[in-house]
Amino acid sequence: MKTCYVTTPIYYASGKVHIGNSYSTIVCDVFARYHRMKGFDTFFLTGMDEHGLKIETAAKNKGIEPQTFVDSIAKETSDLWKNLNITNDDFIRTSEERHIKVVQAIFERLIQNGDIYLGQYEGDYCVPCEAFFTKTQLNSDGTCPDCGRPTIKVKEEGYFLRLTKYADPLLKYIKEHPTFIQPETRKNEVVSFIEQGLEDLCVSRTSFKWGIPVLSNPKHVVYVWIDALSNYLSALGYLSNDETPYQKYWVNGDRVIHVVGKDILRFHAIYWPIMLMALEVPIRFELIAHGWVMVKEGKMSKSKGNVVYPMDVARRYGLDAMRLYLVKEMSLGNDGIFTYDRFIEKFNVDLANDLGNLVSRSISMMNKYVQGTVRKSTFTNEFSQDVECVIGEVVLGFQKAFDAFEFQDGLELVWNLIHRANKYIDETLPWGLAKNPEKMAELETVLYHLYEVIRIVALMISPVMPDTATIIYDELGLNGRFLTTEDMMYGVIDEAQVTQKPIVLFKRLDLEEEFKNLASDV
Ligand code: MSP
Repeated sequence: MKTCYVTTPIYYASGKVHIGNSYSTIVCDVFARYHRMKGFDTFFLTGMDEHGLKIETAAKNKGIEPQTFVDSIAKETSDLWKNLNITNDDFIRTSEERHIKVVQAIFERLIQNGDIYLGQYEGDYCVPCEAFFTKTQLNSDGTCPDCGRPTIKVKEEGYFLRLTKYADPLLKYIKEHPTFIQPETRKNEVVSFIEQGLEDLCVSRTSFKWGIPVLSNPKHVVYVWIDALSNYLSALGYLSNDETPYQKYWVNGDRVIHVVGKDILRFHAIYWPIMLMALEVPIRFELIAHGWVMVKEGKMSKSKGNVVYPMDVARRYGLDAMRLYLVKEMSLGNDGIFTYDRFIEKFNVDLANDLGNLVSRSISMMNKYVQGTVRKSTFTNEFSQDVECVIGEVVLGFQKAFDAFEFQDGLELVWNLIHRANKYIDETLPWGLAKNPEKMAELETVLYHLYEVIRIVALMISPVMPDTATIIYDELGLNGRFLTTEDMMYGVIDEAQVTQKPIVLFKRLDLEEEFKNLASDV
């Protein structure tokens, strides 16, 4: 059986996860669910990044131990993932023993083979971003290039990872593996960053305590990126000699995908493969870098009070509608925008009008004209043939897109099929056929084609809208059957009995009304 290992970034345990961070997790969930449908043995990892000065300071301000602080945020975050229907197989936390052991062993190994050495660090540090910057990287006024806040000068003894030694092998690796960094524009950014010249990276700190101690020199704690990146191996049981998930999903795995936001691309595209080269661990992963979810005013920020939380949207409009909006409206490589007006508009068009209407009017006609029993029939006509053709093309394109993490393109095709089916009803006029007993075979064939379209649409949207897909499948009388990508094909069902009472899947929203409600809730 083929394997798929897909990971989200591990989230800083410093605050509440918003709709932007949730985007990373939702797209990974879509990928994992899709691969399970394809029959891949899939391992989906997410977790928490729990060390560092920022977290130490936040805990101190609350008067609690850092461990107590991160425990409560980890619980809140893993509960959120359950509520968002995320199907992660594991939840790694960097304060766990299984992770600490791996990081300490990795660090010692890199000291022993000379890829980590002790030196003096002097640099400009951004506390909120937990990142050091060189002079050339800082903004002209000395502020942080990522968040724009002031940086501080720090001088201390530190361990360094030899990035310089691996710059050329890394460039060679990137050139030889065209899908290593996606999309292409992000790859070009990384290549030009490396070509400008890398500097060795300081990977330990003595100025704070909340981190993993370096075993051979415990006044140092491991600096956050070596700690954080190692989660992708520690969760797989990297150190053990047994038949571990590490062997199965990493060393011998078929697909390993790390999904990251554009702001942490550099760490994953440069530090991580270099760490792996230094450890002599094969670079098995492909990196997908996505853009940011923005709001009307630009970036979400607590100080501006414009942060959108996923459960607020999901409670109001349904979880699946929110998942669909994020996956369908964001083109992976670019920034996307979340606004309630756009969300409501898309809800009405994509869900209430297109999908909801197709399902409800088709099932009603099946009940009205053939007592809910749909059968494959041999009768055909040009419209039906065209629908079969469109199904074939759409399924092919959909799978190609979903394999390549191009969910927006894949879903666009699904909606093309929904439009085609709605048009098919207008072309064939089933209510007219029903009036003429001689047209019974034609009517049956129309209803069967509609049935097959709805079934295949439900299958294709199931990684994104799992609850909706289950409801539709149940309404089609298929509960729990025909659920693999191989069933995405016209003509799989011979006969089926649909529900007598289809529910309204998505009720049209009134924009003005919704804005009144939203305003009164704030
Ligand atoms: N802890 C690091 C990752 C370590 S991975 C070995 C981190 N954490 S984070 O909580 O700040 O961010 C987690 C993810 O959320 C990142 O991929 C980041 O790009 C993403 N996002 C944060 N804000 C976002 C949006 N507004 N939109 C989309 N993704 C965003 O970085």
